Amino acid sequence: MFTIDCIEDLDFRLADLPRCALPTRVLVADPEHFDLEYAINPHMRDEHGELQRVDRVLARAQWQAWVDALRASGAAVDVLPALAGQPDLVFCANQALPVASDVAPGGVARVVPSRMAHAQRRGEVEHVVASLERMGYRVDAPAAASPIEGMGDGLWHPGRRLLWAGIGPRSSRAAWEELAERYRVPTLLLELVDPDFYHLDTALALLSETTCLWWPAALSEKSQALVRALFSRAIEADGGEARRNLACNAFCADGRRVFIDAGATRTAHELAQAGFEVTALHTGEFLKSGGSLFCMKLLHGPI
Ligand code: ARG
Repeated sequence: MFTIDCIEDLDFRLADLPRCALPTRVLVADPEHFDLEYAINPHMRDEHGELQRVDRVLARAQWQAWVDALRASGAAVDVLPALAGQPDLVFCANQALPVASDVAPGGVARVVPSRMAHAQRRGEVEHVVASLERMGYRVDAPAAASPIEGMGDGLWHPGRRLLWAGIGPRSSRAAWEELAERYRVPTLLLELVDPDFYHLDTALALLSETTCLWWPAALSEKSQALVRALFSRAIEADGGEARRNLACNAFCADGRRVFIDAGATRTAHELAQAGFEVTALHTGEFLKSGGSLFCMKLLHGPI
């Protein structure tokens, strides 16, 4: 069994796990067709229950500022072309799980297509997978079990051969169990218990090998204990900012520089106090769809 869901079954320490490289390539998706056409998470409706309305010009500007900040940080950024009829494509962390060459058995980088929980997003998968294939990934079969939403719920531990996997609204325990066995990767299963935090990446950001940012109440108590056991420093986000600004959808690729929504000022302050270099960016139009910086990109490699 490669999956663990409680500290009683934890039979390794981080330091026992093989090291792996920090990924450096980032895929983003052109937001040309970004919009709100359906509601599949609670953030997508306003207080009256109506679909949120997006300012698409502002959305484009926010997205461009994000891409510019990624490039300025030194990341190699590839842009996935737009796809008509898929208003959520911009959240390109969700359609596939890359398994880097230093993680996949046999040393060949693999990509596992997602099995999206909602029919509205299923048309995005092939588009994202095909682009990863062109970059050199070998495409493996999707999990037989459904659903599973790639790096919305599957977070690679920085620098160690370990996967954190959310189970709940968008990904199933059975699917993660299958992939953990298939790639022989130790996988820590975390139960999501609050509908506002419907992907693991809305509740937990892995900032470095030793530090995470999280909103503990989004996880069951037994899952919280796993996070506390593996991270020597777990920084708690401000609760309101975690829910409204998706503060835990922050992104850090190098263990030092964190990108976070500009409205999450208290959380940003905590991160700065902890020694991180914080870049605040406006993601308000995307928050209306239930996403922010982490899910508006796919961090991947080495291939
Ligand atoms: N509207 C999208 C959905 O509900 C947002 C996805 C955001 N992605 C994420 N990993 N949090 O699927």
